[in-house]
Amino acid sequence: MVAVDDLGDHLRLLADGTRLRLLHLLDAEPLTVAELQETLGLGQSSISGHLAKLKQSGLIHDVAEGASRRYRMRSDVATHLAAAWGAVRGLSADDFQTRADRERLTELRKTNAAGWVDRVAGSLDREYAPGRTWAALCQGLLSFARFGRCIDVGAGDGSMAELLAPRCEQLTCVDPNPAMVAAAVKRIDALRLARVTVLPAGGEAIPLPDACADSVLFLQSLQYIPVPAAALREAVRLLAPGGRLLVLTLVAHDQAEAERFGHRHRGFTPRQLVGWARGLDDVRCEPLPAEPRPPHFQSLVLTARKPE
Ligand SMILES: C[S@@+](CC[C@H](N)C(=O)[O-])C[C@H]1O[C@@H](n2cnc3c(N)ncnc32)[C@H](O)[C@@H]1O
Repeated sequence: MVAVDDLGDHLRLLADGTRLRLLHLLDAEPLTVAELQETLGLGQSSISGHLAKLKQSGLIHDVAEGASRRYRMRSDVATHLAAAWGAVRGLSADDFQTRADRERLTELRKTNAAGWVDRVAGSLDREYAPGRTWAALCQGLLSFARFGRCIDVGAGDGSMAELLAPRCEQLTCVDPNPAMVAAAVKRIDALRLARVTVLPAGGEAIPLPDACADSVLFLQSLQYIPVPAAALREAVRLLAPGGRLLVLTLVAHDQAEAERFGHRHRGFTPRQLVGWARGLDDVRCEPLPAEPRPPHFQSLVLTARKPE
């Protein structure tokens, strides 16, 4: 049984023609304000006002998508409101206006799809494109990479091992943290990753022979290592002639927030990293673009090669 007051609210919500048109469109597929605006031919403030009311009622919700938001029907609408919407939808589904809106949206889709590539030229890095995620791009590009006998220093819980192992002749995951080591062993076993070893050790003293590695990696781990200069000296020792070093860390910053993540160092300057890569050739050190969200941490990447 529904309280009469609540029923009144539900019916008032659904009695508005614009809101009904919005609901019919969203019932078929999730849409952005711009798409709804174009389809209904109404101004943004009017559409946004109605969407706010529908959102407040619990019929729809929205999810951020690039610079805009996409609205969709909720799957957990309260029973009586869902029943009221179900009844109204049944009565208005074949209405002339509802059908006209759907046809207009289909037309707009065709026009917009044809112009999508032109429209995003110059802003593709901020736009959503299906499948164009950083994870997919990284994994795709990694298919060309070969790491040979690789040592990953500060390897963590093995999440990177999953990516690296297929591109390594042999992978050694070095980490001193017992919880990380246990998680890495568990993950590597579960995934049955071949030729992967987990070595509990600190980066400053790795119990492996000289010149045993074709690549040594530090993937956001240098800022955790108490004596980073010693860890890089160790990396130079472990590299075989022609072997390559990759350090991905943070640019020097003044954010106390980093300590919350267990960092020992507030990033590094290129000068520091280059100085610690002494004895290596082809040393390159470059900052990457800052993260878009505050406090805008910025990564620093160093690559170098052991002389033949
Ligand atoms: C943010 S995690 C990065 C893990 C991994 N590289 C990744 O990208 O998924 C930093 C890692 O550095 C490790 N670490 C801490 N002290 C270290 C040390 N002295 N030598 C090597 N690694 C260390 C931590 O245990 C942690 O697993």
